[in-house]
Formats: sequence, C-alpha cells, structure tokens
Amino acid sequence: MTVRSILRMGDPRLLQPAAPVPAFGTPELAGLIADLHDTMTAHGGVGIAAPQIGVGLQVVLFGFERSERYPDAPPVPRTVLVNPVLTPLTEATEDGWEGCLSVPGLRGVVPRYTRIHYRGFTPGGDPIDRTAEGFHARVVQHECDHLSGILYPMRMHDLSRFGFTEVLFPELGSG
Ligand code: NI
Repeated sequence: MTVRSILRMGDPRLLQPAAPVPAFGTPELAGLIADLHDTMTAHGGVGIAAPQIGVGLQVVLFGFERSERYPDAPPVPRTVLVNPVLTPLTEATEDGWEGCLSVPGLRGVVPRYTRIHYRGFTPGGDPIDRTAEGFHARVVQHECDHLSGILYPMRMHDLSRFGFTEVLFPELGSG
C-alpha cells in the first residue's frame, strides 16, 4: 500500500484511453486498488482513476460518507469499479462544480447527465449494475471520463466559471 504521485494535467498519459483489466482477483489488481485507495485518501479526493497514477487500466474508485472537498454533497456509495460501461438515461444535463486531483487547486462548472446507468465489475469479478443521479452520477461520469482520456476542463462550456478553489470557495482552502 503506497501513496502514489498523481499525474497532473499536461501529462500525455492522462489523455490516453485505458485498457480493460484482463483478469479479476489477481494480486496485481489488488495492489493497484490499494494504491489508488491510499492515494485518493491521502489527497482527500472523492474519486480516482487508475490513469491518474500512470496505470492505463479501466479501474476507478469513488465514494464517501462526507467530503471536506465537497461539504454540501450527499454521500456516494464507496465503490471499486472495474471495466465500467456508462449509459446516460436522459438527455438532460445539469451544471455543477467539479475539481480533480490531476487539476489541483482549481474548480470548474461542468455539465453532466442527471441520470445514468452504469455497470462493471468488482475486483473479484462480480457484476455491478446501478442507476445513479445527482452527485453520484456526476462522480461516476467524471471518473469514467478519465478512462477515455478526458479531463473535466475538456467538458466545460463556460470558461468564465473556471478558477482557483481558494478564490472561488475560500471556506474550502486550496484543495
Ligand atoms: Ni479527476
């Protein structure tokens, strides 16, 4: 278990599509997930994707009871999702503030589908099949975008709503 360094926007590895995990239940996968967990926790993130630590595999972690980075957000179930497939259930989107551990110190308003279906697998290969809305749906869309080489600023429509966290939200500090 190791806190790994997080690639920051500008690193070309963040723009590469990730490959499916070829085998479940392996020590390699368990080690990757432990590192992702430790790295996300050390940085107070609500989600992380394997490409953010330089591993080009389709693995994301997300979820929290309460987040200091997003104090108004409702809880999201703690989930490890392998080889996810995400489907919007509506054409409707809503704007919301996002940050990213690979874009430190900044926040931006990003449109996301309000309701989605996602499926994938646990690290042991058991299926996960859920619908989600609101902040839960937003987090899953953000993390799965990392697996397609997409960072949230690439989804923004209005760059006037992009800025430094400590300026936009002084109560949150610089995270
Ligand atoms: Ni991110």
